[in-house]
Formats: sequence, C-alpha cells, structure tokens
Amino acid sequence: MGDTGAVRGGLLHLDSSADRRGESVTRTLTGLFARSWRERYGDAGYRYRDLAAEPVPLVGSGYVALGTRTERQGAVPLAKVAALAEGADEEREWALTLPLVAELRAAGTVLIGVPMYNFGVPAALKAWIDRVSFPGAFTDPDSGRPHLGGTRVVVVAACGGGYGPGTPRADCDFQVPYLRAYFGELGVAEGELHIVRAELTRAGDIPALAPFRDLAVDSLAAARAAVTELAVRPLGGRPAALHM
Ligand SMILES: Cc1cc2nc3c(=O)[nH]c(=O)nc-3n(C[C@H](O)[C@H](O)[C@H](O)COP(=O)(O)O)c2cc1C
Repeated sequence: MGDTGAVRGGLLHLDSSADRRGESVTRTLTGLFARSWRERYGDAGYRYRDLAAEPVPLVGSGYVALGTRTERQGAVPLAKVAALAEGADEEREWALTLPLVAELRAAGTVLIGVPMYNFGVPAALKAWIDRVSFPGAFTDPDSGRPHLGGTRVVVVAACGGGYGPGTPRADCDFQVPYLRAYFGELGVAEGELHIVRAELTRAGDIPALAPFRDLAVDSLAAARAAVTELAVRPLGGRPAALHM
C-alpha cells in the first residue's frame, strides 16, 4: 500500500477459463498477479469479472443496427450513442455494452486470463471482445487518439501443447497472435502489451506429451516469475519482455 501514484485507473481483472475446479493455470496466474497488485495498491481500484461464470451476452441484431448507425455519423462521443438508439432492442443492447466499455476505458491495467481453446480464445472472452468493440468506443472523437494509449494490458495465456517457433503446430496458434493484433488495433502501445504464456500445461496428463514435462515445468515457472514482476511494475516503466 501507499504506492497509489502508480495505480492510475486501477486494475480490471478478467478470467475466461471454463475450469473453475481450482486447477486452471490461467486463473492461478491471474490470481497471483491480482494478489500482489492488491497488496501493493489496495482494493479500491480493483474490479473483477469472471467471463465464464457470468457470460457477456452475444451481440445481437440491435447491437449491429446501432453500431452501423453510429459509424455513419462519423466520430460520436460515447455519451451521445444512447440518443441514436431506436427501439427497445437497441436500447437493451446499449445498456449491456456501455458499462463494459466504460469499465475498460477506465482501467489503468487490464489483466486477462486466456486459455487456448481449439487453437483460439474461449468463446466467453470473444463475446466480451465483440461487445466492447463498439464502433468508435476507443478513439477520442476530438483528437483521434486511442483511449487505451496509456493502458497496460497483461494477457496471461495457457495452452495444453507447444506452439513455439519451429514446432509442428507453430502455424496453428490463433490465440496469442490474435490478441496481439486485437489490442494493437485498439491502440494499446506495443510496450504496454504484455503476453505471458504457460505452454504444455497438459504434459502431465497426455501420454504423448510426457517427454515435454520438464519444458512444461520451466514454462510455468517462467510465467509465474513474469506475472509476479509485472504485477508490481509501475506504469510507464521499462519495455516489456516476452515470455511464451
Ligand atoms: C475446450 C478445450 C479446448 C482446448 N483446445 C486446445 C488446443 O487447441 N490447443 C492446446 O494446446 N490446448 C488446448 N486445450 C488445453 C488448454 O489450453 C489447457 O488445458 C490450458 O491450460 C487451459 O487453461 P486453464 O488451465 O486456465 O483452464 C483445450 C482445452 C479445452 C478445455
């Protein structure tokens, strides 16, 4: 505590693993991050969302209609979108969307636990991404600058297999490259997008992966060290290292 100058906007912590038995690697790692962050900065700026336990509703037709109408207006401030909504369906969609967008924009640090599911990200996370990515929501209508230009994003990923360069499935990784592209497009600065990934998490269960158990242990240890360090690194600190 007492280090509140570095909190800037607080911590938004999202988990998306379907595994709520206490064995989830991403939940354990994001939990480690959140614990050290809260010990250092206190609870006031901390927000938590379990996207698997309380799924964000999929975007519907009213969302698309309101988004399209908003896009046609050019740069629309968030506060003026409600006035563009036509009918109960669009109003309902906006009521589901605005709090999530506001929560993301207000965060100084966004921490996201992301397992690899079928080479990509869980549907629970994708539902949140689709909803918060409302047209123009992350660009300042006056300056054209991204709202998340000063936000730190920490992606804590896990995958059962291995996807490193030169491995047979390297081309099948649609988890980390996707999130890198998405948050880059949202305007998160390259030096503030931190990706930590524990690989080969199923090496202890799947016989074919048994030869890689030592690598799995090393990967998890590196991920633990990375999240522990990132949790207490002041915003605007030195450039990110990549652990994956
Ligand atoms: C529905 C599902 C799909 C999965 N698909 C993949 C996959 O495509 N590639 C992979 O390496 N691991 C896959 N896994 C394994 C998970 O990525 C791995 O167990 C990871 O540790 C899950 O994160 P968690 O421990 O936080 O739940 C899958 C697991 C589940 C439950």
